[in-house]
Amino acid sequence: MDSFLIKGGVPLHGEVTISGSKNAALPIMAATLLTDEPCIVRRVPDLSDTRFMVKILESLGATVKFENGTLTVHAKKIKGYADYDLVRKMRGSICIMGPLLGRLRQARVSLPGGCIIGARPINLHLKGFEALGAKIKIESGYIDATAKKLAGNSLFLGGRAGPTVLGTANVMMAAALADGVTIIESAACEPEVVDLANFLNAMGANIAGVGSPTITITGVKKLHGAEHEVIPDRIETATFMVAAGATNGEITIKGGRADHLRAVIDKLKEAGVSVERSGANMIVRRSGTLKPVDVTTLPYSGFPTDVQAQMMSLLALAKGISIITERIFESRFMHVSELARLGADIEIEGPSAIIKGGKPLSGAPVMASDLRASAALVIAGLAAKGSTQVNRIYHLDRGYEQMDVKLRKLGARIQRVEEK
Ligand code: EPU
Repeated sequence: MDSFLIKGGVPLHGEVTISGSKNAALPIMAATLLTDEPCIVRRVPDLSDTRFMVKILESLGATVKFENGTLTVHAKKIKGYADYDLVRKMRGSICIMGPLLGRLRQARVSLPGGCIIGARPINLHLKGFEALGAKIKIESGYIDATAKKLAGNSLFLGGRAGPTVLGTANVMMAAALADGVTIIESAACEPEVVDLANFLNAMGANIAGVGSPTITITGVKKLHGAEHEVIPDRIETATFMVAAGATNGEITIKGGRADHLRAVIDKLKEAGVSVERSGANMIVRRSGTLKPVDVTTLPYSGFPTDVQAQMMSLLALAKGISIITERIFESRFMHVSELARLGADIEIEGPSAIIKGGKPLSGAPVMASDLRASAALVIAGLAAKGSTQVNRIYHLDRGYEQMDVKLRKLGARIQRVEEK
């Protein structure tokens, strides 16, 4: 397993270009299954997760070409059941269910397991499919969904922690080809859901209200091929913003969207990191000494859970007490014990982490546990004195395109150590 070797203490300077959004690309890739005509999707990040989704599309019968960030998918004839292990290994692949059900009225996929950040149930996805008329059976590790007829309905999709992003995407994709009108209440408002709806509408769907908690989908008989460019990755953008603040550097961010990151920019400002617009770019630098802040993760447009770990690394450097409360995933604090190895003083109290910041960080070997935890460890390593080895960076490769290359261009001393 590859690792990153980081020699910390170098402020990051220069320009970085943001890649396409992983979490927008995955459901959009799945949506190409809704038509028998070719689709072209641009700015698809080259990641192990998107490569994995290519494999899933191919296993269902689609012809796929993925070159220089452009993906061409032709799902002329597809089957309704996916290979057990392919789906089980990547949670995001659950979003093939909606398109399969919409187009074939039948979907059979393996039940995704929990993961390191929490239980991750899919009850709301299934509730949505049932509301459209699907019969669901769970048997031998598979979810079987079949529908003689998919009919529009009004449904409430809110759960314990609020709306569901992929659940909203899944139901929206199935409902696009249902008979009649579907109204999703408590729909996820994330920009990735809006991007998917824009792609579906370009394919001939009739979806209104995206970006708000009420989405109205008027079913159509057939969808056609379309071209689309994926939105920039707001989590990658936020990660580089936090890295600029943590290393006391100055980064120009190209291709990111400030309007998708209002909560993050607001908290960074409170913590002493400024984000200024400069034409289409953003310039991120410290505006003074780092200050402690309290952060609560929430559904969009609140502070994203996917930036919680990275923010913790920054706040470990701010003198004073910060409290981070995680409201989306119950056990998304695996990075805490690893940050402690670098000298961070953090205690967990229920859903909150209490960060007694300002202690100097010093390099150590650490272990990445999930995608965003890995990013947090890289940021902490960049800010720490001495050498940090971040092991198991395959987690990072799932969701950050060439992170080491991009960081080196910003002056970071970071090397990928390949395991022979
Ligand atoms: N939930 C349920 N029932 C469901 C679905 C979700 O109770 O049927 C709960 C979850 O347990 C969680 C909350 O609802 O407490 C929100 O989960 P959501 O369904 O929104 O998460 P997701 O759609 O599975 C996506 C991203 C995650 C991101 C979350 C929240 C993709 C591929 N994944 O997951 O991204 O953290 O939304 O914004 O889009 C990441 O990129 O590192 C990542 C984990």
